[in-house]
Amino acid sequence: MKVGVMILAAAFYNEWMRKLLNLPPQASSIAEGVDNLLFFVIAVTTLVSIGFALVALVLWAVYRNKGKGTVGQVVHPGIMFEVVAISGPLFFFLLWFFIGFRQYVEMESPPDDAMEVYVMGKKWMWKFAYPDGPNAVGTLHVPVGRPVKLLMTSRDVIHSFFIPAFRMKKDIVPGRYSELWFTATEPGSYEVFCAEYCGTGHSMMRGEVVAMKADEFDQWLAQQRNGFASRQQDSAVSTEEAPRTEANMVLQGQRLAGEKGCFKCHSVDGQPHIGPTWLGLYHRHEHLSTGETINVDEPYITESMMDPTAKLVAGYGPVMPTYMGKLTAPETAAIVEFIKSLRNPELQAQPSEPPTYEPSRR
Ligand code: CUA
Repeated sequence: MKVGVMILAAAFYNEWMRKLLNLPPQASSIAEGVDNLLFFVIAVTTLVSIGFALVALVLWAVYRNKGKGTVGQVVHPGIMFEVVAISGPLFFFLLWFFIGFRQYVEMESPPDDAMEVYVMGKKWMWKFAYPDGPNAVGTLHVPVGRPVKLLMTSRDVIHSFFIPAFRMKKDIVPGRYSELWFTATEPGSYEVFCAEYCGTGHSMMRGEVVAMKADEFDQWLAQQRNGFASRQQDSAVSTEEAPRTEANMVLQGQRLAGEKGCFKCHSVDGQPHIGPTWLGLYHRHEHLSTGETINVDEPYITESMMDPTAKLVAGYGPVMPTYMGKLTAPETAAIVEFIKSLRNPELQAQPSEPPTYEPSRR
């Protein structure tokens, strides 16, 4: 009973504060928790501030005529006063830290079954690409109730992908992929902002997330893919634009890896060569030359392409050249998808012919 009343009061306070601060709706699975923590901090600090103001007023009223001759006297507080004055704030700061840290860990740990969408920011627009199509500019469709993982990069400068209603924001950096995941909880349309000043069009760099009921989303995706596949056939598109060159990013990545010389050093059959094999690389736990162990995820793979010596796998020399500037964002994404397709050797078809290096035609 008591607990029920408290939960109700907390929900009421949450909604009241959200309206008071004019915040957008809480439309993702983590949004309410993020707001609760913020409102909790505001409540405690407000109450403490009011308390201090009242104490100051009372002390002023009581002592305003009694203090004559005592100015400058040193006052030694008792040990209990010290203990309370230190442990009180410490308790709250640590409590906020632990609540926030749990939320941070959740935000940084996308579930394995999350649907993946590639995001590319460029001056001044957002492009979205589903691994098997379609592509979109400005509008990202997602299903309600299913986790969605965004793999985001920039084509030019640093941007920041911000969905206020989801309480999520992450910087996107040229040459790297950063991850962000969420589960939308309410169907609707939510604004996307760029939250990193990126030039004259920064304030116009807006987009939209459309959260659809899961079954409507499935229908939408199937329709889009039909149209996407037929468009693919009658247009030859350059690799400069969003990953739309080939409907299948895996095949595109396999082709590019050959063209760019990746197979000179990386095998796809499990044999270590000049570099680690790509077979089963994705989500492998690799030992680094520093003694650390890391989980090979998209950010690590792209970092290794752009800054190969940053995190060297133990046993391999720092011989890989950087591909910064040599691969466009969509090309990088395609090669990452190809590497990911090699994660489960039993389930995935092997490349039909042994990949061989051909000099780039460009
Ligand atoms: Cu992109 Cu600001």
